[in-house]
Amino acid sequence: MKNILITGGAGFIGSHVVRLFINNYPNYNIINLDALTYAGNLENLSDIEGSKNYKFVKGDICDAQFINELMQKESITDIIHLAAESHVDRSISDPLSFVRTNVIGTVNLLNAAVAAWKDAYDQHIFYHVSTDEVYGSLGETGFFLETTSYDPQSPYSASKASSDHFVRAYANTYGLNIKVSNCSNNYGPNQFPEKLLPLMINNIKNNKPLPVYGKGENIRDWLYVVDHARAIDDIFHKGKVGETYNVGGFNEWKNIDIVNLLCKVMDKKLNRQDGDSAKFITFVKDRAGHDMRYAIDATKINKDLGWEPSLQFEEGLEKTVDWYLENEAWLKNVTSGKYQEYYDEQYA
Ligand code: NAD
Ligand code: DAU
Repeated sequence: MKNILITGGAGFIGSHVVRLFINNYPNYNIINLDALTYAGNLENLSDIEGSKNYKFVKGDICDAQFINELMQKESITDIIHLAAESHVDRSISDPLSFVRTNVIGTVNLLNAAVAAWKDAYDQHIFYHVSTDEVYGSLGETGFFLETTSYDPQSPYSASKASSDHFVRAYANTYGLNIKVSNCSNNYGPNQFPEKLLPLMINNIKNNKPLPVYGKGENIRDWLYVVDHARAIDDIFHKGKVGETYNVGGFNEWKNIDIVNLLCKVMDKKLNRQDGDSAKFITFVKDRAGHDMRYAIDATKINKDLGWEPSLQFEEGLEKTVDWYLENEAWLKNVTSGKYQEYYDEQYA
């Protein structure tokens, strides 16, 4: 019997991980711990909230006493840690909140795991979900391997790199059973519209300018979010303790190309003339310290665990656009109130 604490389960990736575990493992108890920040939304889980093996707990990973009590109260056997501040632009305007959640919050969880599991570390797993951004920025060639040196370039990636180092330090120092994965850019349903694709989808729908940073030449490697959740499942169950796995889509796109493709897909879906939406593309001031290229070499997880992406990108993009068009209420809810203040400040 496992009682798995999933942190950040009301967020974008976390909600897909919670759903997959609830559906695939009815004999596990899933405890979703989330502070419900602007990025957390219980609507993401409305389809599974009544499941017998699911419990939601509202709380902050930075509250050490609360976490320690939760570990005891729910007899937590394993942790899959996704809770984080996750948006690079916000880390540029408010770095300290990233240090707080991503570094201090992670160390609190590690301390709680050590306190609760110290008599039997080998029976428990602390799985830390991280990002490819810790490796820094690539030039035109090359890929991030699990052995690539860390070289974070933004306050967000520096805070994630720090949390990765703490997780590995706790394995070395205390003997905690850890697993780490570093994934490339996710896209799909339920992503908050501060990130490139949902922001563009929302703006295309509303005939608003499509703000592309700099010249749009930066490159990202895109993976459908459910494929990331499948990778997390494989690593949690089959990955070697102490190991790191890189997860990616083998799917690199220049920002300007991906925005043009999205415009084409949405012109069709919205019965507009081909080219109508692309007229709204607007090149805006570049992101400070903007990493040029990310590309993951996912050979290890493919060879060792048999994981590979299940969806072609074009198919995943269509599914994503369909989801946003069919879930107007979700989009309206998350873009009301504070979102507008953020948007006005970011894109002034
Ligand atoms: P998200 O911003 O959509 O969700 C983060 C969740 O964490 C939210 O539900 C939020 O309420 C919760 N949270 C924030 N602070 C908290 C706190 N102090 N206590 C408890 N809960 C808190 O993020 P996401 O895009 O789903 O990313 C999830 C994880 O995956 C993060 O660790 C991120 O670094 C990592 N990651 C993301 C991507 C990506 O492309 N989005 C890629 C690789 C790795
Ligand atoms: O690589 C994994 C990372 O991917 C995750 O760890 C992060 O949590 C996630 O936010 C994402 O980071 P990026 O900075 O790559 O994603 P974002 O969607 O913010 O931006 C993607 C690219 O698009 C990037 O080069 C910046 C650019 N961009 C973004 C926005 C929001 C624009 O040109 N215009 C925009 O309005």
